[in-house]
Amino acid sequence: MRKPVVMGNWKLNGTKATVTDLIKAFSQSANNAANVDVAICAPAIFIGMVETLAAGSQLKYGSEDVDVHTSGAFTGENSPVMIKEFGATYAIVGHSERRGYHNETNEVVAAKFKAAQDNGLVPVLCIGESEAEYDAGKTVEVCNAEIKAVIDLCGIDAFKNAVIAYEPIWAIGTGKTATPDVAQNVHKQIRDYLKTFSAEVADGVRILYGGSCNAKTAPELFSQPDIDGGLIGGASLKVADFNAIIDAAKANA
Ligand code: PGA
Repeated sequence: MRKPVVMGNWKLNGTKATVTDLIKAFSQSANNAANVDVAICAPAIFIGMVETLAAGSQLKYGSEDVDVHTSGAFTGENSPVMIKEFGATYAIVGHSERRGYHNETNEVVAAKFKAAQDNGLVPVLCIGESEAEYDAGKTVEVCNAEIKAVIDLCGIDAFKNAVIAYEPIWAIGTGKTATPDVAQNVHKQIRDYLKTFSAEVADGVRILYGGSCNAKTAPELFSQPDIDGGLIGGASLKVADFNAIIDAAKANA
């Protein structure tokens, strides 16, 4: 049985005041959700605050990206070692906004996955197709290539300690959630692809759905057999909405 994960991705949002309110609230939510991993991935500048505010609670947290280097002359980057030092558990890698706005290739994303994992963070590998790729029936091909780049660099066993987030780009921030059937079908095909390398890894890895997942859509999405929780953008900035999504995961844990 895979333990569900409900993970917020705050993107470029937050103030000291909102971070304080949200982390206080979600620390409590996490304490009341023993059978769900509840986590927040925050802008790097807030991670130190999150560490202090979440101390002693079950809330996990992480970064939204990570550099491939651990230190040195790389102005503006965030080292996985530094993120780990602030008590983070997770590092998102390969979010479509990073791939799109920062030209991160599958190979760069794989290197970030490796850097995160080598330094004690659990990588959350985001994959997913654009609307044009979806229309052209290329969803599985795109997702498999994004996964294969990681397998080529790190080996299949790397997914024993990683999370995958399937996020169709056309669903992110658009309000167009993939239907539970469409999402389940892709998640199953992702798992089937991993099975061609290792049945054990395929059965164990948690595959989250992301893309306009909200209080309304989460219950049916999370009831699908291959959907193990969600990566939540907009709704993770609202206490009631994120709590409702956690409740949906609890009901399916
Ligand atoms: P959204 O974002 O929930 O606001 O669509 C999800 C994500 O980009 O991780």
